[in-house]
Amino acid sequence: METEKEWFASWFDTSYYHILYKHRDDTEAQEFIQNLVSFLKIEKKDTLLDLACGKGRHSIYLNKLGYNVVGADLSKNSINFAKQFENNSLRFVEHDMRNKLTQNYDVILNLFTSFGFFEDDNEDIKVLKNIKKGLNKYGMAVIDFMNSKKVISNLVPEETQLIDGINFHITRYIKNGFIVKEINFEANNKHHTYYEKVKMLNLAKINSYLNSVGFKIKHTFGNYKLEQFNEETSDRLILVLE
Ligand SMILES: C[S@@+](CC[C@H](N)C(=O)[O-])C[C@H]1O[C@@H](n2cnc3c(N)ncnc32)[C@H](O)[C@@H]1O
Repeated sequence: METEKEWFASWFDTSYYHILYKHRDDTEAQEFIQNLVSFLKIEKKDTLLDLACGKGRHSIYLNKLGYNVVGADLSKNSINFAKQFENNSLRFVEHDMRNKLTQNYDVILNLFTSFGFFEDDNEDIKVLKNIKKGLNKYGMAVIDFMNSKKVISNLVPEETQLIDGINFHITRYIKNGFIVKEINFEANNKHHTYYEKVKMLNLAKINSYLNSVGFKIKHTFGNYKLEQFNEETSDRLILVLE
């Protein structure tokens, strides 16, 4: 009997995920990347990994800026799509971030809430371990997570969004330490139900994970402009690790 796929393996691999999030576009990704590479002074000779790259919006832009980039993601469909942009210095691979990396990098990026998906804390920690082991000696990692506190205090329990002719009925709630987004819609004559379940990690909890793998936080930012993090008001929790 085929076992049911975990929510992140099924939802992110659908075309519907990309329809619902089409507003999170290249402009947002490019502004963030520009700020990041100039602040971190990432050198053109550096090799970069965009871990959980999706369709590669950050990888493609980094490569346009002149970097050698690998984009890795669990979603077969996203990687197949991204492959059309490959060249000598841009590659896309299917990879589960719970598995060890097969080469080392100067910078590893994990962007737009691509962390905190797993029921077992040890699997989140394993991801951090893999990142740490996959860095060169003076390498650094960037984790761009949501600011859980702000997300929870602004949680919209129910809404419907009409996008590309699909009525996405969305409910949001907290369950077992996860912020759950349940997405229901009709498409192609079928009812669909998908979930997003992201762990309610705050800075203290992430820091305890980081300590357990020997990572240190070098910088903390609260948005894509790289302004200071404030737990009450910031949209993002962006960590630079070394
Ligand atoms: C919120 S999306 C962000 C995608 C991309 N970073 C972006 O900004 O557009 C999360 C991504 O994590 C990927 N993902 C989920 N579980 C994964 C895993 N175990 N290993 C690798 N990638 C995973 C999904 O397929 C999805 O592309």
